[in-house]
Amino acid sequence: MNNQSRSTPKVNSLFLPRRGFLLLLLTVGVMLYILSWMNNLQFQKTANPAFIPQVHQSFCAFRPISSKESLEEEKILKSIAWPKTPSITSNYTFENSSNPLCSNFTILPKVGEAGQWYIGDQLEVSIIIKDYYCYPKTSGGDVLLASLKNRDLQAGVSGQVVDHLNGSYTAVFPLVWEGQAEVEVTLVHPSEAVTVLQRLNSEEPDRVNFRSIFRSGSVSEKTECNICLRPSKRPVCDFTDVHTGEPWFCLKPKNTKLNCTNRINHDNGVFVLNLQKEDKRLFQDKINMKTPILAVGSSSITVYQRKTGPVMLRSNNVKTAASGFYYKGVWKSLGITEVHQFDTAAIFQCLKGKVIHLYGDSTIRQYFDYLNKALPNNKMIDRHTSMQSGPFKAEDRKNNILLTYRCHGPPIRFKDVPIQDLHYIANELDSVSGGASTVVGISVWMHFSTFPLKIYIRRLMSIRSAVRRLLARAPDTIVVIKTGTPQALISLFDAVTKSEWFSRQHDKVLRALFKGMNVHLMDAWEMVLAHQLPHNLHPQPPIIKNMINVFLSYTCPKMHSENNL
Ligand SMILES: *[C@@H]1O[C@H](CO)[C@@H](O)[C@H](O)[C@H]1NC(C)=O
Ligand SMILES: *[C@@H]1O[C@H](CO)[C@@H](O)[C@H](O)[C@H]1NC(C)=O
Ligand SMILES: *[C@@H]1O[C@H](CO)[C@@H](O)[C@H](O)[C@H]1NC(C)=O
Ligand SMILES: *[C@@H]1O[C@H](CO)[C@@H](O)[C@H](O)[C@H]1NC(C)=O
Ligand SMILES: *[C@@H]1O[C@H](CO)[C@@H](O)[C@H](O)[C@H]1NC(C)=O
Repeated sequence: MNNQSRSTPKVNSLFLPRRGFLLLLLTVGVMLYILSWMNNLQFQKTANPAFIPQVHQSFCAFRPISSKESLEEEKILKSIAWPKTPSITSNYTFENSSNPLCSNFTILPKVGEAGQWYIGDQLEVSIIIKDYYCYPKTSGGDVLLASLKNRDLQAGVSGQVVDHLNGSYTAVFPLVWEGQAEVEVTLVHPSEAVTVLQRLNSEEPDRVNFRSIFRSGSVSEKTECNICLRPSKRPVCDFTDVHTGEPWFCLKPKNTKLNCTNRINHDNGVFVLNLQKEDKRLFQDKINMKTPILAVGSSSITVYQRKTGPVMLRSNNVKTAASGFYYKGVWKSLGITEVHQFDTAAIFQCLKGKVIHLYGDSTIRQYFDYLNKALPNNKMIDRHTSMQSGPFKAEDRKNNILLTYRCHGPPIRFKDVPIQDLHYIANELDSVSGGASTVVGISVWMHFSTFPLKIYIRRLMSIRSAVRRLLARAPDTIVVIKTGTPQALISLFDAVTKSEWFSRQHDKVLRALFKGMNVHLMDAWEMVLAHQLPHNLHPQPPIIKNMINVFLSYTCPKMHSENNL
């Protein structure tokens, strides 16, 4: 735990109606205190091995995890470590940073078969990044996105970018449709911008801050809250969740009539950023942020169907890791689950008799809205809750359909969430009995952008534990985990609070943590990257429709529909 002085006023009555939990809280509290004390005396090695004391310079609090989880965390952090990016030293100037206007890509020619491309081949593109002097960069770490598209056919597939760490990159694509295929490469951020983003997450994880109102009768006060609350002389209220151990703190109200139990809401506060002018130049719309890189020579190829063999859109030869692609605007899986098309009647047929619980950020609230609209007899149970955070509940009693949405716990950047509605997903999952007619959808990513990765990893670990418990008691429960997506980056604010560089790290963490579990992955990342619509934090309806088809294909894999290609 960190060294921040906390008067730790107890908040038991708010969260802990039962005595057992009170005891648990006290035990955990005492243990943590002892651990932090041992930590200070550098006795870490003698500490209970089940809880590794967290040694860190950060003023963030990290949920304690087991030694096994700690090893896993280290492994994940190592496996996703971003290449070393240029440090911004005194002799660095903006002109030394990556410049998309001087950078280019080249389609590498097909070897053999008279240079002709066929479905099932793999296309490779070489990307060379240069600076403002048009000198090739000599280090890696630029954030690049690559996709292959045919806008007339409404076809698209995402590419994988390999960083050679010397300023050159290779993008790899599977060829999965017949006809034209155009390569699109985008510089999301120059590598120097990553240096800045990395620094911000360790030094300014509180640049998006949070607040709570404390109220007792006519007295009220707003104070600052965070997982990463800067050390100060002021006493702190500890709102660490007793079940999950998720840390959360608020400054204690100054008014003596108010104490920690008087907290009534959670709110995202202001955005504060300390950046040098020179650093800001690294995040400029249309100049070096989400800017296209152009081709040397042609940017497109023609793909043919091999004369021999069956007509196939689905290829088994694909070596790239693409999970699917669009063809005529419809998402097709390259994996094992076939994606069916669900019209309104099919959605109803699939969800009849089912309970669907959606948890997380606003990007899964979009699924709630879509399904709620599609189910004709669904009635919203109006609890006068916020349009942003819910919770929402819609029911079709006659056909026994229940659809719910609830936002994830802090750090959620939602306005004015009543404390009573601020729940952690892991705790929610523990109250789901589950079974074959229960479907759970989870989306947690964007709101963790500004924090050290460990905070995200540990949150997902606690959710994963709850998913494991759920699947242990009800193995037939369908669990769908949604990844983050690329999105519009226009302003400096967008970049430093929700850049897809953060989301991409989260995406990798999420895949690693849920790998091998009996859960389904909604590859929202690829589904947005491969689509021709512009990126948006809230993907547009045609993309959501495809995501719902994937979601329902996991839910009702046996359902057949005629309009399936
Ligand atoms: C720039 O600074 C770096 C690190 O301070 C140093 O290694 C490098 O030699 C310097 N380059 C020039 C041209 O001064
Ligand atoms: C920046 O570019 C100039 C001109 O190419 C070069 O002399 C200088 O060493 C570069 N600085 C760094 C830090 O790479
Ligand atoms: C960069 O590394 C790749 C892979 O090792 C290599 O093929 C390429 O020639 C290198 N490029 C430069 C400019 O050194
Ligand atoms: C906090 O305030 C409430 C009334 O606002 C009071 O009932 C309660 O006893 C106080 N708790 C503590 C620990 O002072
Ligand atoms: C590389 O792309 C830029 C535009 O992004 C273009 O002006 C330049 O001519 C290209 N270089 C070559 C060698 O084609």
